[in-house]
Amino acid sequence: MASTHGAAEVLVASNRGPVSYAVGDDGSIETKRGGGGLVSALSVVDDKLWVCAALDDGDREAVRRGVAEPGVRMLDIDADVYADAYNGVANSVLWFVHHMLYQTPLEPSFGTDFRRRWASYEAYNRALAQALAQEAAPGATVVVQDYHLALVPGMLRELRDDLRIGHFSHTPWAPVDYFRMLPDDIAEQLLRGMLGADRLAFLTRRWADAFTDCCTRILGGTSGTRIGVHGLGADADFLRERAHRDDVGERLTALREQVGEDRKVIVRVDRTELSKNIVRGLHAFELLLETRPEWREKVVHVAFAYPSRQDLAVYRDYTAEVSRVAQAINSRFGTEGWTPVILHVKDDFARSLAAYRLADVALVNPIRDGMNLVAKEVPVVSDDGCVLVLSREAGAYEELGEDALVVNPYDVTGTAAALGAALAMPEDERAQRTKRLAGAATALPPGQWFLDQLEALKAE
Ligand code: G6P
Repeated sequence: MASTHGAAEVLVASNRGPVSYAVGDDGSIETKRGGGGLVSALSVVDDKLWVCAALDDGDREAVRRGVAEPGVRMLDIDADVYADAYNGVANSVLWFVHHMLYQTPLEPSFGTDFRRRWASYEAYNRALAQALAQEAAPGATVVVQDYHLALVPGMLRELRDDLRIGHFSHTPWAPVDYFRMLPDDIAEQLLRGMLGADRLAFLTRRWADAFTDCCTRILGGTSGTRIGVHGLGADADFLRERAHRDDVGERLTALREQVGEDRKVIVRVDRTELSKNIVRGLHAFELLLETRPEWREKVVHVAFAYPSRQDLAVYRDYTAEVSRVAQAINSRFGTEGWTPVILHVKDDFARSLAAYRLADVALVNPIRDGMNLVAKEVPVVSDDGCVLVLSREAGAYEELGEDALVVNPYDVTGTAAALGAALAMPEDERAQRTKRLAGAATALPPGQWFLDQLEALKAE
């Protein structure tokens, strides 16, 4: 056990931290606070230390100059090691395994290049584990987040066996036969790394069971590690207040003008990445226009697809494909006064909220998704009720499946039919369903989600 320790009683570790930094025009460091779901969930505990990675040159420069927000320790990992770990392992291999995105026979293929990237993933995890070991007070509680840091619990356990260590997975977990595409030693190392925690938690029972199956088949059991489920809900108070501020109102007016009067609106809001299944969603909309001509000129698909992880070619290609397909639909069906697909790619949270308010139908059709918070946010914010067309492969399906129109994400014909049924749903039924969806979506407020985990972790 290490002889030194720190003073933090509650620690969180994640790849992306709650702040980012940039070097401004005058050469000074500018700080930007992140507004993600994790940030708001964790804000219920004031006195905590958040350990995270420097993600880009702005972050690295801030760390080098000693700029640090209180309660945040950002680590300046070597840029090549970080790129290999984040892009080369986490967002390609691990993301692809858990979301089942590989297209055999070309992928995956694990050769020497992968082994080099894996060594970086280990080094990156070790750097986080060492920082946590330095900062944690005796007997402190540490909650490690996500697939970027799967090895941290085991590494931290070796350095500090006095700590309570938890790990939370925000993604699905792969079924065992799919997980076993990974080389055997790597699969074992990942599972053992996670099992270094006292308690592991997942967003749904389905993902927790898949993890347990992997441990049973590959290691023969879970070695006494406790496994729990904590669904994450939408933050109703925050969303309702935020969605009625002036900036959202302005964007709502602009969107209404773009859509045109008396037209129905099908909305989707996603980061642009392959698990979100945006291209099949567009094809389903196209099929609706093709087979149900009565909807032409009467409906607009507002698709917000915000580019993400653009360092990786596979994400860039997908982003380009989304634009290409949207344009093809517009050239095929568009008319003088009607643009069937309105695609926006610049991330704008206020405009997303405006779209939620305007939507008649929300399309959430991921191939697989840990939870999907858009499915939960839309019913909370919607002005006049909104029909949710929801993939059965989203974690949110377990809580919202009864009042959504449920689709198989690969079935474009079925998705087109569900969009048609959603557009035709009588007002009162739509209002009733939206109300029930909003109730289910807010049953597990984000702050409670985190407090429940801490409590479960501390209970023996
Ligand atoms: C998923 C992951 C998160 C991640 C987020 C955004 O939700 O579970 O850990 O932060 O995607 O991805 P990015 O690569 O931009 O951090």
